Amino acid sequence: MNDFLDLCKRRQSCRGFSERSVEHNKLVQCVEAGRLAHSGCNSQPWSFVVAENKDIVSQIALCGQQLKQNVWLNTAKAFIIVLEEHAVLSPVISGFLDSQYYAKGDLGAAAAYICLEAAEQGLGSCIIGIYDRKKICELLNIPAEKQFGYVIALGYPLNETIRQKNRKAFEEIVRFV
Ligand SMILES: Cc1cc2nc3c(=O)[nH]c(=O)nc-3n(C[C@H](O)[C@H](O)[C@H](O)COP(=O)(O)O)c2cc1C
Repeated sequence: MNDFLDLCKRRQSCRGFSERSVEHNKLVQCVEAGRLAHSGCNSQPWSFVVAENKDIVSQIALCGQQLKQNVWLNTAKAFIIVLEEHAVLSPVISGFLDSQYYAKGDLGAAAAYICLEAAEQGLGSCIIGIYDRKKICELLNIPAEKQFGYVIALGYPLNETIRQKNRKAFEEIVRFV
């Protein structure tokens, strides 16, 4: 197995972080990885908010515990929020497609790069799907109409065991022609 596939196996959703805080430069490197992600027409339809201030981090954690989900989230030491920005596509393509057509996928790529870089740095990460968007916007001075891509919780994993990946079988989903 090569280093990249090994990293893909080591990257896993972390649902419990240790007391250790995350170094600022590691967060910079994670977000730098997101910035380097590919995007349709290189439109880069994203911006990132990095929360590392203890008080703000714990308030974001509360916003992610709607419906009593993600009870472990108050152990997160940082968050990276990936926001969707206006995508400027090339003139030929924008004649056919809505400007935001590729944006969701692009944001997914940026989030994946962030999580992979986090794993490379020895950090745990977990994308959070359910959160109080309105409250996060208020807290972080984000315009209420802004589209959210991802809220990513980060910290050092409490449990370093690498779990077996639960994935569909290769043969079930791949076809070579
Ligand atoms: C869009 C999205 C939303 C997610 N939301 C949550 C969440 O709210 N809570 C959680 O514990 N995991 C969440 N996850 C993590 C997935 O459950 C996880 O990626 C999946 O089970 C595969 O496991 P792995 O990441 O450990 O490989 C989310 C993942 C994605 C991509």
